[in-house]
Amino acid sequence: MYKKILVACDGSLYARKAIEVSADIAQRYKSELTVITVIQHPLNGFGMFSVEELGPEAYEILKKKGNNIIREAKEQLKDHDVNSNYVLEYGNPGDTIVRYAKKNSFDLIVVGSHGYGEIMAHMLGSVSDRVNHHAHCSVLIVR
Ligand SMILES: Nc1ncnc2c1ncn2[C@@H]1O[C@H](COP(=O)(O)OP(=O)(O)OP(=O)(O)O)[C@@H](O)[C@H]1O
Ligand SMILES: [Mg+2]
Repeated sequence: MYKKILVACDGSLYARKAIEVSADIAQRYKSELTVITVIQHPLNGFGMFSVEELGPEAYEILKKKGNNIIREAKEQLKDHDVNSNYVLEYGNPGDTIVRYAKKNSFDLIVVGSHGYGEIMAHMLGSVSDRVNHHAHCSVLIVR
């Protein structure tokens, strides 16, 4: 049913749970599972810094953080019998996840309900909310 599943990971406990659920579905349907981590542009008050504005040092720090999150996701999935891929992208997380899913014809996106933000249990995080509203395919929000 789901051939290609995209799971969004920011390294939070919620995202870990989303990975667990997505791996279980991928195992059952023999789907291809892709973990995406998006390095967020820091805000500069007028929008977002571009890679050029950030400079190579700040960019390297952000990239290292992203790679650490990917490494942890790999570690989490190593005992699961699933065909998994890992991608690191740069930009606004919600928009980037939606765009990547459409461009690469995923048929399910899995996200956690929250991440590292201040938790308001009754609300969704802004990334999961954006993905939920703009994705071209089904979205599973893991609580
Ligand atoms: N930078 C990111 N890269 C990949 N996935 C992400 C990223 N940020 C969030 N997500 C995904 O979205 C889910 C919800 O996180 P979200 O950022 O929406 O909530 P939050 O951090 O609690 O709130 P907010 O960021 O709006 O303050 C996470 O569990 C994860 O699946
Ligand atoms: Mg967040």
